[in-house]
Amino acid sequence: MSSASDWHWHARAFLARRRWAATRQRLEDWLLGLPAGAAWPHELVLLGGSAGWMMSSRFLARFERVLLVDIDPWAGRLFRFNHGAALARHGVRLDVWQADAHALLEQALAEHPAACVLFDNFLGQDSIYTRDLQATERRLRAVRERVRGRLWGSVHDRLSGPGTTGWTAAACWQAGSISARAGEPLPPSALASVQASGEWIDHGTEPILPPGTPTRLIPWPIVAGRWHWLEAGWVDARGSV
Ligand SMILES: C[S@@+](CC[C@H](N)C(=O)[O-])C[C@H]1O[C@@H](n2cnc3c(N)ncnc32)[C@H](O)[C@@H]1O
Repeated sequence: MSSASDWHWHARAFLARRRWAATRQRLEDWLLGLPAGAAWPHELVLLGGSAGWMMSSRFLARFERVLLVDIDPWAGRLFRFNHGAALARHGVRLDVWQADAHALLEQALAEHPAACVLFDNFLGQDSIYTRDLQATERRLRAVRERVRGRLWGSVHDRLSGPGTTGWTAAACWQAGSISARAGEPLPPSALASVQASGEWIDHGTEPILPPGTPTRLIPWPIVAGRWHWLEAGWVDARGSV
């Protein structure tokens, strides 16, 4: 697995902060909304969190310790650039492992036995790294078993493709997020709301969340004329082992 820093991604994210504001807000709403009756653990294992361009400082402030695991050697420094002040203000300790989250997941869990685990929008790009759709499918299907007994969540690409180029802040707010359930097909209104056209890619992420998990579907205008529909869901499996 390559560990080169993805400067193209960081530059794009930095320049797109206004355009991505609506998506970031919807992600924050989801991050802060736990399954009913659940209580927050004191620690967070944040996998593939990059520089936290889409992360909510308010969410991070709920924890005493955060472990960021990302293969990108610049993720930790840029994460501190984006969230360091908020973490310091709230006394949150940040540790960073520059590592493959798949390889070190069990170690991270063992060192943080009660932590909440968040797969932060990297599982939908897994086949770019494996270059093997079947290997990726096996890996994604195994996720729930590997985090059994935890409060865990995932946000990941479901579908992506061409759509409206009207990526002004107003247009982004208009394409609303949708309540759904894991395992259900995307409602036609989702694609209509971003004026989807041409060929859309299925990221094969359907097996990640247990069927029926309540989810938020969130539109993300990643670049002008190209949209992702993100799926975000929490699973509270504490007490199930
Ligand atoms: C789309 S970005 C995530 C964006 C992030 N949620 C944010 O708010 O900026 C995907 C990230 O996953 C990381 N990544 C991909 N595969 C990984 C793996 N196997 N282990 C750890 N990090 C990985 C990449 O380095 C990249 O930083």
